[in-house]
Amino acid sequence: MKDNIKKLAHIIKNSNNMVVMTGAGMDTESNIPDFRSKDGLWYKMDPAKVATVEALHQNYPLFHEFYSARIKNMDNITPHEGHYVLAELEEKGYIKSLATQNISGLHAMAGSRNIYELHGNIREIRCNECHTSHSIEEFLDKKNCNNCGKNALRPGIVLFGEMLPTNTWQRAMRDVENSEILMVIGTSLQVYPVNQMPYMTRGKTVYINMEQARGYDFDIEIIGRAGEVLTELKEMLL
Ligand code: APR
Repeated sequence: MKDNIKKLAHIIKNSNNMVVMTGAGMDTESNIPDFRSKDGLWYKMDPAKVATVEALHQNYPLFHEFYSARIKNMDNITPHEGHYVLAELEEKGYIKSLATQNISGLHAMAGSRNIYELHGNIREIRCNECHTSHSIEEFLDKKNCNNCGKNALRPGIVLFGEMLPTNTWQRAMRDVENSEILMVIGTSLQVYPVNQMPYMTRGKTVYINMEQARGYDFDIEIIGRAGEVLTELKEMLL
């Protein structure tokens, strides 16, 4: 692992065009469970029952209960050292942009700036029918929409079967295509279309994750905890 982190520090030192892509594994050290690890959310709950448009329409009480719990669980979360390292590497000019599948907002909280929230943000509430914005409190209190009156408030996240936010996705893709380094952190790369990103860059690809990903051939692979690996990388770089 140390050798690979050294190799990574070396290629980063010689580049100023690195794009980072993160997934739920980036947030587990901040006590947010991921989805597909043995204690991940989808082991406890069938995503088809809560994280699809059909679920919102056919069983709004369960949909509401699931996302209310996730919002409340994020009340006191804070970024960990790894999030701060990424913000510092951006500030120092090593990172051009950061594309995340995470809806937690932890990268912004840690000070990262050029962020693409590809799967949305759980704290942005809107009406599913007329798209009117609402507050988190109105959602948690199961209020009806104050514009169209429908009982259909929802978090501004991308549900399975929905499109990614077009402009955000296209800008992220462009940055990845033009990147010299794509660093992928804490994702099982099982969800389309974000899992296509490693194939989009002409640059070097790096994977930092607790488990290996099948079907990819990264230039540098570091199997370890994101916070620990990024902290060690910072010591070698800065
Ligand atoms: N450091 C590094 N890797 C970690 C850590 C950690 N501290 N904790 C977990 N991991 C790894 C796991 O081994 C797993 O391979 O992170 C990966 C998380 O994968 P998933 O749970 O599949 O999460 P992700 O890839 O982000 O899911 C993609 O699926 O459910 C939807 O919309 C949701 O954005 C999400 C998308």
